[in-house]
Amino acid sequence: MAGLTPLEQEVLVYSYYRDAELRGANLLFRLMRMIDDPEALMNLTEHLADETRHAWLWTQRIKELGAAPVPVDDGYQVRIGKKAGVPKTVFDLFALTVVVEQRALRRYQQHLRREGVSERTREVLEAVTKDEGWHIDWIRKRARELAEQSGDPESMDRALARYRAIDEEVMAELDEKERTLGD
Ligand SMILES: [Fe+2]
Ligand SMILES: [Fe+2]
Repeated sequence: MAGLTPLEQEVLVYSYYRDAELRGANLLFRLMRMIDDPEALMNLTEHLADETRHAWLWTQRIKELGAAPVPVDDGYQVRIGKKAGVPKTVFDLFALTVVVEQRALRRYQQHLRREGVSERTREVLEAVTKDEGWHIDWIRKRARELAEQSGDPESMDRALARYRAIDEEVMAELDEKERTLGD
């Protein structure tokens, strides 16, 4: 993030978070069109409401800093999408959602551990982190049940393993990018 003022850097980080929340919401929208399981539909609706609220919390935080969100076109989710291609099955979408949620949760937890995090940012980080636990839990549980009912009980775990490998590749790229920006 060379060449940016501290304020610009802060706005950029929150813009990445905001973008990830919105792209996560988009995955949930796609899932809702693909499934008819009543329990999953109910959870998906609440889950989607959470993600759009998270996006709004980051947007508000950016607004408080007197700025506007920066468009993000090379973020984590875009890179995952390029490597993984379009998710074909409902289990691909479920697994992709779990993997990106786990990544978001880890990023938020790491941010919380940093020194000098402002009170307001801490509030937002805590609010969004609080919801991510149940998001990951319900999807993993229901998706595994649906995989069993589908006659291919391993389909969810196979998809999870595939997306985890892609997630690791993308994170290695992003770490490398951050390192070179610091030069
Ligand atoms: Fe979220
Ligand atoms: Fe979430």
